[in-house]
Amino acid sequence: MSAAVCAFILTFSTTLGPTVVSGVLSAPTNVRLSSNDMNLVLRWDSPERPASSLVYTTEFKSSVYEAAYRVGCVNISNLECDLSCLNISVFHYGTYKGRVQAQSGTESSAWMESNQITLDKDTIISSPDVSLFSNGAAIEVSIKDPVFTISALRKVYHSATYNITYWKHGQREKARSKSNIQQNRVVLSDLDPWTKYCVRVQIITERKPSKPSAAVCESTTNEEAAPWVAAVATFGIVATLVALVVVAVVYRKRFSHFLCPEDALPQHFKEYLLAPPNSPMYLAMRNSHPPDEIYNQVSVIADSRTLEEGQPLEAAGRNCSKQPDTT
Ligand SMILES: *[C@@H]1O[C@H](CO)[C@@H](O)[C@H](O)[C@H]1NC(C)=O
Ligand SMILES: *[C@@H]1O[C@H](CO)[C@@H](O)[C@H](O)[C@H]1NC(C)=O
Ligand SMILES: *[C@@H]1O[C@H](CO)[C@@H](O)[C@H](O)[C@H]1NC(C)=O
Repeated sequence: MSAAVCAFILTFSTTLGPTVVSGVLSAPTNVRLSSNDMNLVLRWDSPERPASSLVYTTEFKSSVYEAAYRVGCVNISNLECDLSCLNISVFHYGTYKGRVQAQSGTESSAWMESNQITLDKDTIISSPDVSLFSNGAAIEVSIKDPVFTISALRKVYHSATYNITYWKHGQREKARSKSNIQQNRVVLSDLDPWTKYCVRVQIITERKPSKPSAAVCESTTNEEAAPWVAAVATFGIVATLVALVVVAVVYRKRFSHFLCPEDALPQHFKEYLLAPPNSPMYLAMRNSHPPDEIYNQVSVIADSRTLEEGQPLEAAGRNCSKQPDTT
């Protein structure tokens, strides 16, 4: 009975051949999941017998925690889907797997599964960005980590360090390296002056290294140049100041003679200036000047009388700043 059904189907499919088989859409091929700098991209090739107006739908899941697939890109016509661009949370230590199905009209192909990848272990880490700054006979290396799609390099790889390799231009075989570097600004100071050096940096993580950066080159200048000029300039300024002070001290007398000549004023002028002023205003001001009297009373007279006389003293003390106005 069942053998008869099978035989019928076999006969049917062989006689009608191509038309029936073309009713089942052939599936995409070479489905692969990959990651660069913590993104998650599913790629595939078109089916062996592509139908017209093919679209693809993708799904993925964390192969450790999820039993069911989650929807990725739907009804797309290109051959890749960046799952990390979708509004779906992806964990940077997660292990993922994807699958894709081709569709044409109402027909669908079988789902084709990809390989599975663990993000932190399998992602390809781009090379760091390296800039060089020449500073006399030293070169400062400034390093920028690649930007991750999810999270950040130092959040995923807690013990990431740099391996800096440097060599004289044209002498690559004599390269030296500094490894285990954690700072992103490093000064290479054991260099020769007036020499071109090339530098290449690789990030080393607990999981895997990054791609090495392209070599960048920079020339050193005179070893002593910058500090020497600064030292001479400072010395010059200090020496000039000291000389000026010494000259000023030694020739102080002559300077003061020059500024205040001895044979200055005619005698009658001096007499006029030194004579006690006798303008009525000045005399009035001088006679009404109170502090002299107050001090005399306080300093000379003791005990009970100080209490009586204390009042004017306090008043004078409080108003001292206003004294010229009140008198
Ligand atoms: C995808 O295409 C199918 C078939 O054409 C359609 O039924 C479905 O609604 C589409 N889905 C989206 C999200 O556009
Ligand atoms: C992303 O998904 C969350 C919930 O999963 C939702 O609240 C949010 O609005 C979504 N954002 C966008 C831009 O779609
Ligand atoms: C650093 O890089 C140099 C050159 O590529 C290599 O020889 C050396 O082994 C590396 N060091 C570490 C600690 O990876």
